[in-house]
Amino acid sequence: MSMNSTDQSSYPRADVAPPSGKLFPHKHLLGIWGLDPTAIKHLLDVADGYVDLNRQAVKSTETCRGLTQINLFFENSTRTLMSFEIAGKRLGLDTISMSTGTSSIKKGETLLDTAATLNAMHPDVLVMRHADSGAVKLLSEKMDCAVINAGDGRAEHPTQALLDALTIRRRKGSIHGQTIVISGDVAHSRVARSNIYLLNAMGARVRLVAPPTLLPADIDRLGVEVFHHMEQGLEGADVVMMLRLQNERMQGAFLPSLREYYHFWGLTREKLKVAKDDVLVMHPGPMNRGVEIASDVADDLDRSAIEEQVEMGVAVRMACIDVLTRDLRNGERS
Ligand code: NCD
Repeated sequence: MSMNSTDQSSYPRADVAPPSGKLFPHKHLLGIWGLDPTAIKHLLDVADGYVDLNRQAVKSTETCRGLTQINLFFENSTRTLMSFEIAGKRLGLDTISMSTGTSSIKKGETLLDTAATLNAMHPDVLVMRHADSGAVKLLSEKMDCAVINAGDGRAEHPTQALLDALTIRRRKGSIHGQTIVISGDVAHSRVARSNIYLLNAMGARVRLVAPPTLLPADIDRLGVEVFHHMEQGLEGADVVMMLRLQNERMQGAFLPSLREYYHFWGLTREKLKVAKDDVLVMHPGPMNRGVEIASDVADDLDRSAIEEQVEMGVAVRMACIDVLTRDLRNGERS
């Protein structure tokens, strides 16, 4: 049963024209919120071209040769950090990843002092991940270069939503009109939030399936339908995105036990029977097998797009770096 359905009119729709003549009129990529459908579509179109390049033997281009990219990750990451590094290298940038464990941040330097220090080295792209929501935006205000948010707290993870969108668009032909279920720990998930903004903007029907304790407080304003039973939420779904239980962001007990969680909320073949026959199963990783997803579902080559998501991640990050540095390369930016 749908518990909650809200007005989606506050979301940018696919027929809204961009505010300027440019397809992507932004200096930074801090979130999906505030991007119109034309800008989103542009990034996906550019990324499509990079998917083809990445499947060739020789993958490097000279597109951004001479530019410098710094990856500044204050939180652990495997696929996001690796794919930003690979993306930068394939575009010809000099990429440097700074480990916060060995930096002066451990000596007490503030985020803004770190920003000023890095800014003085004239990077052209800064990719940043931080545990606090809003930290990447704060830093972007002190940087002259393009800043890309690689995940801030529970707020946004725009490149993850873009790579998910590219995966869906390539598999299903379009995002518009698809019934897309996001299930699991929505409350702590920046992936869910960015996906909700993007999928709504592109005309998908978004359902959240989660226990009430794992839903965000502002759920009524997100433009989604909410279900508290897996079988009801999965009925007729085209796509199911499962989310990891983010134990590191939980203070106190949100769940009785992991076994019980799997029983009610874990994605199994049995529960998937009510979804469309060609349902696409997605997960941003890292996965907790046997907690939010059964191994045989995650590894089902016919339905699981989990590895494809990783592949799309490199292409999407190349597209973001390419698009955000175009003015600079064309000599338009001071
Ligand atoms: C996610 C993240 O860090 O937000 N992972 C990722 O970037 N692929 C999701 C998670 O940590 O569960």
